[in-house]
Amino acid sequence: MKPYYITTPIYYVNDMPHIGHAYTTIACDVLARFKRLDGFDVKFLTGTDEHGQKVEKAAANAQIAPQDLVDKVATRFIDLSKSLKSSHDDFIRTTQERHKQAVRHMWSILVKNKAIYLGHYEGWYSVRDEAFYQESELVNGLAPTGAPVEWVREPSYFFNLSQWQQPLLDFFERNPNFIEPASRFNEVKRFVESGLNDLSISRTSFSWGIPVPGDEKHVIYVWLDALTNYMSALGFGADETQLKQYWPESIHVIGKDILRFHGVFWPAFLMAAGLQPPKKVFAHGWWTNEGQKISKSVGNVIDPFGLIETFGLDAVRYFLMREVPFGSDGDFSKDALIGRLNSDLANAWGNLVQRVLSFIGKSCDGVLPAPKQLTPADRELIELPRAVLDKVRDCADKLAIHKMCEEIWVIIGRANKYMDDEKPWSLKKTDPQRMEECLYVLADVIRQIAILTQPILIDGSEKILDIMAIDPKERNFASLNNHLPSNHKIAMPEPIYPRYAAE
Ligand code: MSP
Repeated sequence: MKPYYITTPIYYVNDMPHIGHAYTTIACDVLARFKRLDGFDVKFLTGTDEHGQKVEKAAANAQIAPQDLVDKVATRFIDLSKSLKSSHDDFIRTTQERHKQAVRHMWSILVKNKAIYLGHYEGWYSVRDEAFYQESELVNGLAPTGAPVEWVREPSYFFNLSQWQQPLLDFFERNPNFIEPASRFNEVKRFVESGLNDLSISRTSFSWGIPVPGDEKHVIYVWLDALTNYMSALGFGADETQLKQYWPESIHVIGKDILRFHGVFWPAFLMAAGLQPPKKVFAHGWWTNEGQKISKSVGNVIDPFGLIETFGLDAVRYFLMREVPFGSDGDFSKDALIGRLNSDLANAWGNLVQRVLSFIGKSCDGVLPAPKQLTPADRELIELPRAVLDKVRDCADKLAIHKMCEEIWVIIGRANKYMDDEKPWSLKKTDPQRMEECLYVLADVIRQIAILTQPILIDGSEKILDIMAIDPKERNFASLNNHLPSNHKIAMPEPIYPRYAAE
């Protein structure tokens, strides 16, 4: 089986989970589930980023020990991944020993390769971004992200990033799809072309981190620590079997705000360590809430747990994946979510399932003979999902998740049209055999659509396939090549996606 390795960023535990975290996790989960159903050997990683000054400060504010804070908040992130039904294969926490050992290993390779030297750092640092800034980057005394900065002066180890400008540009040239979307790749190239300064990679003014091997006054810069998670989960520096297997197929899905770390620092660290950079970094956009930037101070943070409770998991997953082209910014609004839920899930899909399956239950006792001969219209519809799968696969490889949804809904539209054209309900009296044939075609296409929607609509797809008594082993994409057997018994359906009526 071909390997596929997909990762979310590891989430900071200074704060509670919000829609931005849910968004990346859902996107990676959709891709991981899709690839599994398509026969790939998938490894899907998520986790939490638990070191650094930001977390140390949050713990001090809460008057608890950092380890107690991270244990508490990490649990909330684990809860979120459960509520989203994330199918990750591993959840890494940077306070785990397996990770600390991998980071020390990375450090020692960089030292051995003479990529690290001891110096003195003096300059601006933003704790919120956990990032250093040049004086020239500041806007009205703040970081370009709007975060406050403070002047830092302390001894520090440096990574010789300036040496990696040309190797990075050469690497970008050889790997034209390394960063996507392309517009973001251009931003990164321009940044690298403008020249790189060596990077401070240790701090002495706080202690919540992994101590520098051999110089324990220093803790390792939280981004060098955090980025290494993608490799520590594969046994880097320990048993590297998984690393060899999955690393060449690694895809990091991140938000656009952390692209510099993933698109510049991370490949530079890896090249300096004599390791291969990841295969791809995909930066998605940011959500606003009803047109406004989401922030704690505005008080408009969207709680993913509450959304799932109100609208159901499938609606939340579908809306976030379908509403906005993956890679672009998007605006969240309850009206838009309800609109999608009612039009695409309730009216188009749920209704089709309900009408067809209950008709089969009432008029045929849930049992249909396989037709002896198919009309051209029958054949066109019943064979459509297989052709669409090729397109969806292509979209998955481009991480065009919104288009994956669009393509699947083309089949739903065609199935609804077929139903309206063939009018099985009027055939009941005039031509019952033709009615059965039409219902068989519709039932089989519903089975195929439900197989295709599994990566996105977890609960509903499972319910439909259960009602249709489809063997769990017959739910992968290879099963689109088969058809429903003759006289297969289908149960009476219950409404899968009821319309949402706003109070
Ligand atoms: N800990 C770092 C990542 C280290 S990866 C080696 C971090 N954590 S974070 O918790 O602050 O952010 C995690 C992700 O959430 C980022 O990819 C960020 O882009 C994303 N989002 C935060 N707010 C968001 C929105 N409003 N909309 C979409 N995604 C957003 O950064």
